[in-house]
Amino acid sequence: MIEMFNIQTLNKISKYGTDNFDTAKYNIADEVQNPDAIMVRSAAMHDMEFAPNLLAIARAGAGVNNIPVDKCAEQGIVVFNTPGANANAVKELVIAGLLISSRKVPEAMTWAQTLKGNGAEVGKMVEKGKSQFAGPEIMGKTLGVIGLGAIGVLVANAAVALGMKVVGFDPYLSVKAALGLNPAVKAVADVKDVYAASDYITIHVPYNADTKSTINADTIALMKDGVRVLNFARGELVDNAAIIAALESGKVSAYVVDFPSDEVLGVKNVIAIPHLGASTPESEDNCAMMAALELIDYIENGNIKNSVNYPDAEMNAAGTKVCVMHKNIPAVISQLTTAFGSAGINIENMVSKSKKDYAYTMLDAAGDVNDEIVNKLAAVDSVIKVRVIK
Ligand code: MLT
Repeated sequence: MIEMFNIQTLNKISKYGTDNFDTAKYNIADEVQNPDAIMVRSAAMHDMEFAPNLLAIARAGAGVNNIPVDKCAEQGIVVFNTPGANANAVKELVIAGLLISSRKVPEAMTWAQTLKGNGAEVGKMVEKGKSQFAGPEIMGKTLGVIGLGAIGVLVANAAVALGMKVVGFDPYLSVKAALGLNPAVKAVADVKDVYAASDYITIHVPYNADTKSTINADTIALMKDGVRVLNFARGELVDNAAIIAALESGKVSAYVVDFPSDEVLGVKNVIAIPHLGASTPESEDNCAMMAALELIDYIENGNIKNSVNYPDAEMNAAGTKVCVMHKNIPAVISQLTTAFGSAGINIENMVSKSKKDYAYTMLDAAGDVNDEIVNKLAAVDSVIKVRVIK
């Protein structure tokens, strides 16, 4: 009998993703009891309780602040995201943000509408009133990019193509990102150099306890007078009180935010966009597809790619694949292999990877992995979950 897996969708997920699940093996619905996996976009999951059979959560998007990532790690639930899948969509809106903040387009559009009813005079009124909206070109100006991940790199490269000087900062710059970065982008080791040099600053880092309020009164003080700040990453990365004060004093001349909060709405020179960064059909399809493929590979093969709470790990197995999620502490692996050895089962291959406090070990066992062995593995101190894929 084929094992069926239940996939719960907490938000509307593009068919480009859900169509990847073989309906002979997967049941996909928004109302599912005890799902084996969950697909989610922005639904808040922090108050949810998870059943023991939940294997994984896939976030169709980059930010995972709607998911209790640490609680999931403790319960052996792999949380995936889809880095890069919506990067082009966000990049395009960031470029729009640069241009509209510079040229005062939102205020100018609002003003133009007020001319309605003036008949043949409108043309003259436009020419007379437009000077109040003049703003600088971006060519030749300096853009500071904080965070050179999938989105930051694309933004930096696009800004170079538009004739900007670009200064980037990322203490965790990956080899992939570095290889993708236009050589004209000046990567600096100290973020202060970004603040000091930039006419425009855009932030592209994940929101967490370390990055909360990255843009605050102290960092704003290091910026050029009249700087324009763009935030298409998460609202909490910018201290609202500090940015409002800086807008009022003129230190910051515009704040473009894709995560508006009540505090910033209505403040002069705030350009508030209702979280449209990734709202393109292309990006919703890309994210859904990537999330679905990650889940399928994990459910069927135990492989992990693009997890935020467990290490990436991949292995082909000729025999029975045994997947063990455990704490990242000494002597776990020797206890696992001893359990196989004492049952007379040879291990043909093994992969063990760790990420911070957690680790994931896959073993290719040449023999019958019965319940007794599984129970022995599960009883090893610090083992969280054992799964056998036949
Ligand atoms: C992301 O985190 O991927 C973007 O903010 C878009 C989204 O939330 O879906």
